[in-house]
Amino acid sequence: MESIALAAADKPARYRELLPQLASLLDGEPDLIANLANTAAALCECVPAASWIGFYVMRRGELVLGPFQGKVACVRIALGRGVCGTAAAERRTLIVPDVEQFPGHIACDAGSRSEVVVPILRGSGGSGEVVAVLDLDSYELAAFDEVDAAGLAPIAELLGTLAW
Ligand code: SME
Repeated sequence: MESIALAAADKPARYRELLPQLASLLDGEPDLIANLANTAAALCECVPAASWIGFYVMRRGELVLGPFQGKVACVRIALGRGVCGTAAAERRTLIVPDVEQFPGHIACDAGSRSEVVVPILRGSGGSGEVVAVLDLDSYELAAFDEVDAAGLAPIAELLGTLAW
């Protein structure tokens, strides 16, 4: 069993350290659920500011809860609803520094204050359809920024190559 070992204290370096370790963790394993579950766990070690990290997977045109780390969460999110549904519909990463300022934010956990949601596009190169979103929530205001978006982008790219 491989483990994730992150030595760096600063955020950009932690994401840089995580990527090759995550790639090797997923390498050779075809099971999607296992790979998403381990990715959520690995990201938890990388992003201590997060209170919830997980996936919503596209199923028949709506987002359905997938593997995650954190408290029990909402199961279904319609495309275009909340931060997750908006990121999926617009095929772009959304950084929300204050969820109370985001119209239609879905509060699964009343303690959540900020979040970042990254769409996962099938295949590599970013041209495929949205197969899932990766959602990170935090109890801190403005916990996520462009460094997180930049660190999560290659992870989403890697995940796009899984067996969706
Ligand atoms: N905050 C999300 C809902 C999912 S949970 O917080 C786990 C949203 O508004 O899309």
